[in-house]
Amino acid sequence: MYKIVTAEKFLWEGLNLDGKQVLEGGTSWGNTIDLIASKVRENGWKTNLISVDIDDSHFNEIENRVKGTFQDLSLRKADLSDLSFVSSETIDIIICNYTLASVNQFPLRAIKVLKEFYRVLKVGGKLLITEEMPIWSVDSNEYEYWSKRLRIIKSISVLKAMAYFNEIHPKDLEEALTIVGFNHLQWQEFKEKIDAELATRFLDKRKQTLIKGRDDIHNQQLTNGFVEVTEKLIKEFENAKEFSAPAYIMKCIK
Ligand SMILES: C[S@@+](CC[C@H](N)C(=O)[O-])C[C@H]1O[C@@H](n2cnc3c(N)ncnc32)[C@H](O)[C@@H]1O
Repeated sequence: MYKIVTAEKFLWEGLNLDGKQVLEGGTSWGNTIDLIASKVRENGWKTNLISVDIDDSHFNEIENRVKGTFQDLSLRKADLSDLSFVSSETIDIIICNYTLASVNQFPLRAIKVLKEFYRVLKVGGKLLITEEMPIWSVDSNEYEYWSKRLRIIKSISVLKAMAYFNEIHPKDLEEALTIVGFNHLQWQEFKEKIDAELATRFLDKRKQTLIKGRDDIHNQQLTNGFVEVTEKLIKEFENAKEFSAPAYIMKCIK
């Protein structure tokens, strides 16, 4: 799991979810729901949570894990760019972690998501976004493993004509949020600690996609070459255990 370590303090500073209606964007495996749930338990808050993801494959296990924690919990399978099941100006706080780069696989959809976030938030409501920082250079000295991993995942995706995550630079996100109407923007960069074993799982998934569709590329050498570099990196990860990745948190208010 991509565990937030250094950023936690910045994210939770001045945040009180008691009596609040919270919306989480990008449920996925529930890392952020677990984080919110532990804060709710720790503080004895009465919080309503709606969490939205286009993929509902982890909903059941998450519901079992956090049973009884929230005053009300609703996991919804939907596209964040269309929150028509949420009335305008009914949400106090939106938390969206590591999801906009995924939405941004389809250019401009992230803008639609920000517009929906703005619509459903109450005036004075807060939006908190955590995202991966884009790395433009393929061999970043500071983030050696992370940049190698990104290069392989994205190269395989291009080879297979699959969509892939497009990380958004905080300055561009800041501009987009301002255009949509958000105020009081502040952001901070930080180093994320990545668990090597979990980072490997996604890499391995891409390798399996490549192997399964061996004939898609019509070049066995190319396929074998990518399988080889992926396996080499997975071996490097086995020794690393943990490594750094660049990320940032953006906060703003409607
Ligand atoms: C990296 S995961 C999010 C991690 C999660 N927030 C956490 O903290 O555990 C990205 C998620 O975004 C979801 N996603 C991508 N595009 C989406 C969209 N347009 N609407 C809703 N969910 C979307 C994916 O299905 C995936 O589960």
